[in-house]
Amino acid sequence: MTQDTLLVPASGDRGGGTRWWRDAVIYQVYVRSFADSDGDGVGDLPGVRSRLPYLAGLGVDALWLTPFYVSPMADFGYDVADYRDVDPLFGTLADARDLIADAHAHGLRIIVDVVPNHTSDRHAWFQAALAAAPGSVERARYVFRDGRGPGGAEPPNDWESVFGGPAWTRVPDGQWYLHLFAPEQPDLDWENPEVHAEFADILRFWLDLGVDGFRVDVAHGMAKAPGLPDVGHPNQVEMLGTAVLPYFDQDPVHAIHREWRRLLDSYDGERIAVAEAWAPTPQRLADYTRPDELHQAFNFHYLTAPWEADGMRAVIDESLRTAGAVGAPATWVLSNHDVKRHVTRYGDGETGLRRARAAALLTLALPGSSYVYQGEELGLPEVLDLPEEFQQDPQRLRGEGAGRDGCRVPLPWEGEEPPFGFGAGAAPWLPIPTEWRDLTVAAQDGDPGSMLALYREALRIRREHPALGDGDLYWIASPPGTLVFVREAGGGNGRLACAINMGDTTARVSVRGTPLLASGPVHTDRTASGGDVDLPPDTALWWDAEEG
Ligand code: GLC
Repeated sequence: MTQDTLLVPASGDRGGGTRWWRDAVIYQVYVRSFADSDGDGVGDLPGVRSRLPYLAGLGVDALWLTPFYVSPMADFGYDVADYRDVDPLFGTLADARDLIADAHAHGLRIIVDVVPNHTSDRHAWFQAALAAAPGSVERARYVFRDGRGPGGAEPPNDWESVFGGPAWTRVPDGQWYLHLFAPEQPDLDWENPEVHAEFADILRFWLDLGVDGFRVDVAHGMAKAPGLPDVGHPNQVEMLGTAVLPYFDQDPVHAIHREWRRLLDSYDGERIAVAEAWAPTPQRLADYTRPDELHQAFNFHYLTAPWEADGMRAVIDESLRTAGAVGAPATWVLSNHDVKRHVTRYGDGETGLRRARAAALLTLALPGSSYVYQGEELGLPEVLDLPEEFQQDPQRLRGEGAGRDGCRVPLPWEGEEPPFGFGAGAAPWLPIPTEWRDLTVAAQDGDPGSMLALYREALRIRREHPALGDGDLYWIASPPGTLVFVREAGGGNGRLACAINMGDTTARVSVRGTPLLASGPVHTDRTASGGDVDLPPDTALWWDAEEG
């Protein structure tokens, strides 16, 4: 085997603790759609708790729970009215405590969402701001400004909401307030020390309750450019994640993350934070994970990479290089509650499924930490034909087809008919397709060819194989359309190789060692010490690699 690239080790300082987060597999629970314990059609915390044995059996290390705080649900909980309590729809604070304790007893860590860029418009602070006069301390917690033009009738600048339309809404006394998302999500002013103090207190509240970390919502949004200058372009949503805008990825935002890191480090047990940051380059994304900032950042460059070997390799290399340069683990994510599910993105139907299976092996073999979005382990596709009357996502303001409801359809657990064990009682908040009968957990359980079996086996091997998780990778020269790399454990403790064929013809890959797991049927003509494998399109293979 020839090694054509040796990447810089991304191992960082491993002394002094378990560094569990450097190679954790973190499962995203979209609470609303996971499991409904009280029969109201909406998932809840006791529902999550009831399914902990399933999650522990799947073999993940931690759960990230999407917001379950008191909220009018204008953006399904990303509009928080009380950061220190649970919305009755999702349960009680006692349920949260029980869930954390029970998850820990199952060996699962808990990461909760924190939403610091904006509050709900029903938050006590915003209600007080509306009742107070321009220039008051109450308004100074948010971004209130006078408008432009005659009578201040035009918004203060040209910023656009991520959900469409202007990012400003006018209040009756004539001032405008900023909301980078829905009008029900007013942006906080992070130049105000009171905002810092409040969020430090909120973080402590949940840390004291025992959570292991935070997923920081819109971690790139809290700092705005001084003077709130115009962008100068329409369709700013198209620039998200590709350009630095005066309201996203501004350098002063990093001071907030440093402050939070100090707070997290003052707790025992390696509590972590992962940034949801849309940065224009992997380099700028890595800035969020410098040693004195957050521990991880979601790698959306990987999520958005097309199904094509050279481009995928370039994204992997760049992600490892930039994360490694700041000593952070790279992260890998294929789906979440904001994007079209990857089975559908990768081509839908049989093609999408085959690719999603191969992508699972690719993702879980890469160095660093991986995220699994609920239902990807079942191979769920995006639901593209949700009846109009059910679609509720505020992002739909942006236009036809832009809504995120299709990736948020409740999980099918068991049985022959919807709601497939999601809950007993009211119909689920989004209808579950009848065809998901074959995709339920129960239908896949025990079927060795199922997506669920593939995830369980891959996660088992990942836990047990010393070469997987944190570390480096070596690329091996391979035919066009394919990628082959080797992971090597320190001290000669084993090597695992991964090959993936992203091309459209079968490719011959040299395998010296013992095949461990394939995402689809592969033909091998192995001799005792290995041989060649004909890897069909959209297929990945792991094997225990021999030296050499
Ligand atoms: C993040 C969340 C998304 C939400 C937005 C506003 O991008 O993932 O669901 O709508 O922030 O809070």
